[in-house]
Amino acid sequence: MAIHFEKLTYIYDRKLPFAHTALSNIDLDISEGKITAIIGETGSGKSTLVQHLNALLIPTAGSVDIGDHHVGANERNKNLKSLRRDVGLVFQFPEYQLFEETILDDVAFGPMRFGLDKKESYERAREALLSVGIDEGLFQRNPMELSGGQKRRVAIAGILSFDPKVLVLDEPTAGLDPEGSRRLIDLILDLNKNQNKTIIIVSHDNDMVYSYTDDTVVMQNGRVSYHGDTLSLFNDSALVEENKLLLPHIVHFKNLLSSRGFNISSSARTIEEIANEVSGRIKG
Ligand SMILES: Nc1ncnc2c1ncn2[C@@H]1O[C@H](COP(=O)(O)OP(=O)(O)OP(=O)(O)O)[C@@H](O)[C@H]1O
Ligand SMILES: [Mg+2]
Repeated sequence: MAIHFEKLTYIYDRKLPFAHTALSNIDLDISEGKITAIIGETGSGKSTLVQHLNALLIPTAGSVDIGDHHVGANERNKNLKSLRRDVGLVFQFPEYQLFEETILDDVAFGPMRFGLDKKESYERAREALLSVGIDEGLFQRNPMELSGGQKRRVAIAGILSFDPKVLVLDEPTAGLDPEGSRRLIDLILDLNKNQNKTIIIVSHDNDMVYSYTDDTVVMQNGRVSYHGDTLSLFNDSALVEENKLLLPHIVHFKNLLSSRGFNISSSARTIEEIANEVSGRIKG
């Protein structure tokens, strides 16, 4: 589903003296079927932006279209249930999302809410939990008894279980161990490539963003300062500076190789790809 933000502004507590404008006049198109990263410093508006995608927040001004769903300021916003069936959002803080007595009940809640029968909902829940690396042995535990990383995985399973068309993940690898992060990234890549899901990932991990995302949106002070191809952004030192970004380790490494006479192609985005190029050239 294509996503289109049109002159969207969001003000927290707008009727109060401490009103705060978190997003200003955002115009943004996010492509269908791609993995798009949303990055930018703390407080720049990333979480506020993505919470509009399933109408958890309603614009103060302007609008957002997600496929055929339209959510606008000062409008009667209809069919929110069907929007929330199409767009699965995992919060930055998974505690906000987990509320059932057991993990399995929690993850089965989504499919049941969207009309599947109990048996199928629980099957979907089991599958989703296993796919994020939560073992059967934990299924009957209370979500609040889990570690931070486990909570995050359960929250992710909670949206995978109802198979939304768009997945929005707010800092999905925060608090995961390296093995858990790796597994989650593989799962995200698989959902994108093999099921054509549109995926939006909010992240502070520029290494992950560089290696695995197609497009990047950079937020600065509630505005979009860059939107386009991820590699073009990070391979251009002027853009990196202008957008106040930390250089991914891989790009730093490519720059070092290049200063020593090994020019690596700009499309190489993982350690493996760089190693292949270097070894190919030494052997050749
Ligand atoms: N519930 C709220 N009430 C009032 N202000 C808020 C609320 N949530 C966020 N803000 C403010 O809105 C701005 C944008 O916050 P947001 O959470 O979208 O940032 P973020 O880019 O996701 O940051 P982080 O990287 O720390 O998660 C910040 O200045 C923040 O203080
Ligand atoms: Mg945030």
